[in-house]
Amino acid sequence: MIMPVILSGGSGTRLWPLSRAMYPKQLLPLFGEKTMLQDTVLRVGSIEGVGPVICVCNDEHRFLVAEQLRQIGVAEQAIILEPFGRNTAPAAAIAALVIAATHPGALMLLLPADHVILDRQGFVASIESARSAAESGSLVTFGIVPSTPETRYGYIRAVAGSTGVTRPVAEFVEKPSLERAEGYVVSGDYFWNSGMFLFRPEIYLAELEASSPEILDACRKSLENARRDLDFLRLDPEAFAACPANSIDYAVMEKTSNAVVVPMQAGWRDVGAWSALWEAQERDAEGNIKRGDVLTHGVRNSYIHATSRLVAAVGLEEHVIVETADAVLVASKERVQEVKAIVEQLKLQK
Ligand code: GDD
Ligand code: MG
Repeated sequence: MIMPVILSGGSGTRLWPLSRAMYPKQLLPLFGEKTMLQDTVLRVGSIEGVGPVICVCNDEHRFLVAEQLRQIGVAEQAIILEPFGRNTAPAAAIAALVIAATHPGALMLLLPADHVILDRQGFVASIESARSAAESGSLVTFGIVPSTPETRYGYIRAVAGSTGVTRPVAEFVEKPSLERAEGYVVSGDYFWNSGMFLFRPEIYLAELEASSPEILDACRKSLENARRDLDFLRLDPEAFAACPANSIDYAVMEKTSNAVVVPMQAGWRDVGAWSALWEAQERDAEGNIKRGDVLTHGVRNSYIHATSRLVAAVGLEEHVIVETADAVLVASKERVQEVKAIVEQLKLQK
């Protein structure tokens, strides 16, 4: 059996002003009617032998997450609540501990909730071809052939000369500098890390024990004292507070010698910034994407999103405009990553 675990605890600050602390990007319908969390849950339904979904999210989002699962007909809900984020290594450890105890022998499929995957069949095919390597004890990563030197991703180098669908990993580099990323893309030897993993939960826990025993220890304690509340499992805040924050990529994947990579061709994209939304969708004849009440004249290659008022733009190129009831963003499309700086300024004002 494959137990899907969806990590939905990120804040998505670069998609401000739509993505907010109380309403992060994975819980927004940015592409059509479903939210990215809902799309992620629906996508795993196509995998053979898949078990019930487990969501790990922040306590603040519990009702939104529960409601979004209910809307798509998920009857049996397992939602684990973190009192605060400690990044992905602890979130994965909590889920691994739960699955090892409740579904012995099952594999764990770790999935971020902030991805767009256009080709569901391609996604399912990669998961299927990873199953036997995961069953024999490898940590399987899913690699995407890189098209640009993106520094927001991890990079995976498969062992030279290895062939087949499942290749041993020689090196895993999380978020390299631009210079290094450029070299990786040109070399043709590297994949982007999609951020999805398939493994036996016990193997992940053993790797974490070796590299970051303090994370595992805090996760164990926060589960021992966890409280059940309706469909929610609330981690013990005191024990979880002692957990160091780290991502699975830095804490485990950069250190392990037990990883393999399976390529994935599935129209995959991490929706990290407004420019990714522009790239991932069909544009009109002028190269624009317009959502909501938007009028343009002489505007090209821009993303314009109105939620509460008419937004009109004239004579712009390569821009992003996002209007909400209490904030409007106007940015040059090539610099939308820097929206994060605005969010930092806002935090300082509070
Ligand atoms: N439950 C929980 N708790 N979830 C979290 C937390 C947390 O503290 N922090 C992040 N997440 C969730 C996010 O909501 C997202 O769905 C997923 O975990 C990955 O976190 P991101 O913060 O989006 O990671 P990233 O995009 O910077 O980097 C990762 O993904 C890239 C591909 O999208 C890494 O795995 C990279 O190596 C990878 O290339
Ligand atoms: Mg991400």
